[in-house]
Amino acid sequence: MAVTEVPVRNSTARWKGLDVAHHLAPQNNYHDLKRKEGGARIITESKGVWLSDSDGNRFIDGMAGLWCVQIGYGREELAEVAAQQMRDLPYYNSFFKTTTAPTVELAEALSELTGGKLPYVFFGSGGSENKDSFVRMARFYWSVQGKPERKNFITRDLAYHGSTQVAASLGGLRPLHTHFGLPLEGFHHVLPPYHFGFANEGESEEEFGKRAAQAVEDKILELGPDTVAAFLGEPIMGAGGVLVPPSNYWPLVEKICRKYDILFAVDEVINGFGRTGRWFAHEHWNLQPDFMSLAKGISSGYVPLSAVMVADRVAKVLIDSGEAFMHGYTYSGHPVCCAVALENIRIMQRESIVETFAEDMAPYFARCLQERFADHPLVGEVRSFGGLAAIELVPDKKGEPRRRFSPMGEVGVLCRTYCLKNGVISRAVRDSMILCPPLVITREEMDEMLSRLAKAIDSTAKELNIL
Ligand SMILES: Cc1ncc(COP(=O)(O)O)c(C=O)c1O
Repeated sequence: MAVTEVPVRNSTARWKGLDVAHHLAPQNNYHDLKRKEGGARIITESKGVWLSDSDGNRFIDGMAGLWCVQIGYGREELAEVAAQQMRDLPYYNSFFKTTTAPTVELAEALSELTGGKLPYVFFGSGGSENKDSFVRMARFYWSVQGKPERKNFITRDLAYHGSTQVAASLGGLRPLHTHFGLPLEGFHHVLPPYHFGFANEGESEEEFGKRAAQAVEDKILELGPDTVAAFLGEPIMGAGGVLVPPSNYWPLVEKICRKYDILFAVDEVINGFGRTGRWFAHEHWNLQPDFMSLAKGISSGYVPLSAVMVADRVAKVLIDSGEAFMHGYTYSGHPVCCAVALENIRIMQRESIVETFAEDMAPYFARCLQERFADHPLVGEVRSFGGLAAIELVPDKKGEPRRRFSPMGEVGVLCRTYCLKNGVISRAVRDSMILCPPLVITREEMDEMLSRLAKAIDSTAKELNIL
C-alpha cells in the first residue's frame, strides 16, 4: 500500500472507539453511551474557565469540572509543585509511624483555615472515601467509650455523599440504592430542606425550616437517641439540586444534635474552599461541627485528595482510647497531592480568591440570575447561594407554579444538550439546570456563560411550545 493510502486515524473517532470498547465510566447508562451515542465527548484542553474538546468545540465550564476547579484551569504553579514533589519524594505512606512533610504541612494549613476549630485531619483520595473514614471514626468514637450500640446515621433524602457502599447509603438518592442492596443497615434519611419541592401550600420558609429540622428530631426519637452515632448534612445540598435551606434550619438542627449528644457532621466536599463565599459554608450559620468532609476544591481538582477534619473533643477520645484506629488508605496523605493542595490554598490566599468572589462575583451572579431567568415562562424557581445556582424548569409556571415535569429529568437532559450546542457546560439535576463556575470567573465570562444558558433555555422552551 502506498504511503498516501495509509488511513489517517481521526483522533476523536479513535478515542471514542476506545471509550466504547474499554471504558466503563462513572454513572452512565452504558447501553445509551456505547450502543446509541458511540462514546463520550473527549475533552482535550483547558485554560481559565474554558474547555475544548477533540473536535475543536469550546465551552465555558459552568460546572468547574465536577464542582471542583476553584482557581480555574492551567495554573502553572500547581504543575511545577507537582513536578518538584515527584522529583523529591513521589510517594511515601503515613502508616507505621512515618509520614511526609507535605502531609503535615497541609494538615496544619487546613487546621488554620478552620480557625483551629477542627485541628485534626484524616486524609483520603476523594469525597466518597471520606465517608467511610467518617463512619468508622464515629463508630470507633462511641465504641471505645463503651457505647457500641450508637451506630445509626441520619442524613437527608436527595443528599449525595458519594458512591461507595457506605457513601451511597449515607446519600438519599434512590437511583444510587436500586440494584445495590442499599442503603446498608443503620443509615436513615429524613426530609431535606427543599422549600420549593416539599413545602405545603402557603407554608413559609421559616415554618418549613422548622418542620424540616423537626424531622431530624423525630427520627432521633424513633430510633432511640442512644442508638444514633451522628447526623451528616451538606450546608447547601449540591448534587441534590442546589437546595438552599431556610435560614433557621441549621441552627435548629445543630441544637437538636447537641440536645441528644449526637455527633454533628458537615459535608463540605462541594461547599468548601470558597464555593459559598466563605472558606467553609457552615461558617454562615456559625456552626461548630464535630466533623467536616473536604475534597474537590481542596486541590481545585488537579489531584485526587480529600480530608476529614475532626474537632478536638472527638480527636481526644480517639487519642486517649489507647487503641489503634484500624482504618486507612495507601494514598492517605499522598505527598504529591498534599503539596499541590497546599499550593492551591496558598494561591487562593495570595490572590484573595474567596474574598473577591464573595464581595464582587457572588452578588453579581445572584442579581444576573434573577434578572435573566426569574420571569422566564419555563422557570419555576431560581436558587443561588454564593457560587452555586439552580434554575428549576417547570411545565406550567402560570397555572401550577410548583408542578414538576413528569417523568422528571427528561427536560433537564434536553436543556443540557442545548447548553452544549451553545458552548456552555451546565448540569441537569432532575429538571434543574445547575451552575457552579470556577471562582476566578470574570464578569465578562459570567455574562457570556449566562447568555449561552439563556439561549439553551429558550430553545428548550420553544421545543416544548412554552415560548
Ligand atoms: C457532598 C459530596 N460528598 C461526597 C462526594 C463524593 O466525592 P468523590 O466523587 O470525590 O468521591 C461528592 C461528589 O460530588 C459530593 O458532592
